[in-house]
Amino acid sequence: MEINIYNDYKQMSNKAANFIINFLQSGQEMLLCFAAGDTPIKTYQYLKEAIDKNNNINTDQLKFVSLDEWIGLNEKDKGSCENYLNKYLFKPLEIKAQNIHFFDACANNLKEECLQSDRYISANGPIDLLVLGIGLNGHIGFNEPGTVKDFSHIVKLDSITKSVSKKYFSGKRGINRGITLGLKQIMGAKNIILLASGKKKAEIIYKALVGQITKEIPASILQEHENCYVFLDKKAASGLKTI
Ligand code: PGA
Repeated sequence: MEINIYNDYKQMSNKAANFIINFLQSGQEMLLCFAAGDTPIKTYQYLKEAIDKNNNINTDQLKFVSLDEWIGLNEKDKGSCENYLNKYLFKPLEIKAQNIHFFDACANNLKEECLQSDRYISANGPIDLLVLGIGLNGHIGFNEPGTVKDFSHIVKLDSITKSVSKKYFSGKRGINRGITLGLKQIMGAKNIILLASGKKKAEIIYKALVGQITKEIPASILQEHENCYVFLDKKAASGLKTI
């Protein structure tokens, strides 16, 4: 694991976008998995700006698989992962719909949705580059504390996740479950970027990066990934000063 600390959110996002650009320069076909959430928004904006200036990157070579979704929400719901990613990533980068595999979290048969995602990764993977945020409870995707599984699965959301969800959409939506890739699929990614910004993430970043590796802090398993690159701003890294 490599930990990089930057002055502020903008600088962190800029460096993360540069890392992604360098990665994409190889021009090969790739499977990517980019998290939704507030943290990566600026990274995706810088990525779009950089791709516009760089003729070497052919986005038609890129395939995407979704990391997670709130069960009961879809593209039409502002704040769903699909809505976020379309708005900040796929529409700006003009990624063709046929190159994106989303979980349909409104499907009648959610187990089949999990299997379809697993099959997509088996057929097109492993994931070449995975961009993750981290929840205040240490979740990655919706691998919630103590509930992690290897492959795509449905999960009862932790109370912290449910409370945080109110920032994306009205808490009245009554969201209780999520659908997510599993930890084996996450750890099977060839390269991982973990992004965290702000003082509110300092404590969980400390626990995840320096603490014991435990299922209670799902992100702590990233300590075992050889190609995990952590991008933090100073505030999110403030708990690490004590190392
Ligand atoms: P955030 O979400 O980027 O909106 O903080 C991170 C997460 O819960 O994984």
